[in-house]
Amino acid sequence: MTMTLILADATAVTTLAASHFAGSLQAAVEARGRFVVLLSGGSTPKALYEMLATETYATLPWDQVVVCFEDERDVPADHAESNYRMAHEALLAHVPIPAANVHRIPTDVTPPKEAAATYEKTLRSLFDSEWPQFDLALMGVGEDGHTASLFPGSPGVDEKQAWVIAPFVDKLKVRRYSLTLPALANAREMVFLAVGPGKAEAVSACLEGAEDATVKPPARRVSEAHGRAVWLLDKAAGRKLKET
Ligand code: 6PG
Repeated sequence: MTMTLILADATAVTTLAASHFAGSLQAAVEARGRFVVLLSGGSTPKALYEMLATETYATLPWDQVVVCFEDERDVPADHAESNYRMAHEALLAHVPIPAANVHRIPTDVTPPKEAAATYEKTLRSLFDSEWPQFDLALMGVGEDGHTASLFPGSPGVDEKQAWVIAPFVDKLKVRRYSLTLPALANAREMVFLAVGPGKAEAVSACLEGAEDATVKPPARRVSEAHGRAVWLLDKAAGRKLKET
């Protein structure tokens, strides 16, 4: 059952997401001695990562946190477009997560298929199960309904075996690295963040699209596959949803 919360503005979304992140982290560490989190990229989560790097969250057991990335652009780790670089600058450089616990997607490995296989091997070393089970998967959604680097119509959206793929995304004319739908959907918790008017159409298609929609946006498919995703929206991103 998807839960949707529409909050006043982006700051309210960030604040609630940070509080949720902290609660999930503490619960996971208490229950299992670690918190394995899947970070999303793009611009939306940057404010969340920066908030988590503040004094407010300094006492969290960061040393028990393991960080993975749900997707990456085909750029070096220090490139301005790198999701890893964004998370490192906003959060990872400011909290005491052991370096060995931060697993970026190795875009320096070639060819791309080898990089995907290498990352899958890394993830498989963290989980002794058919599919990875992240304690928390932070998800974004693109204006076209993509999530991670699963784009509408792009290769790999229907992948059912691999955990990690390296699709060439025709629409962007770029290579991407991404976890697959089943690898994402097995998370214990999944939280989508979407803010701004540009996301309203995609959010509506994901949360209220026709049940028999022949082509569901990848973000909807991931959310429905998970089954208990939480969507945190600001008013602008939620403006096309029916009043409840
Ligand atoms: C990426 C992300 C991607 C992102 C959406 C939304 O690599 O870009 O992982 O899936 O979540 O594109 O991006 P914004 O937050 O920038 O709107």
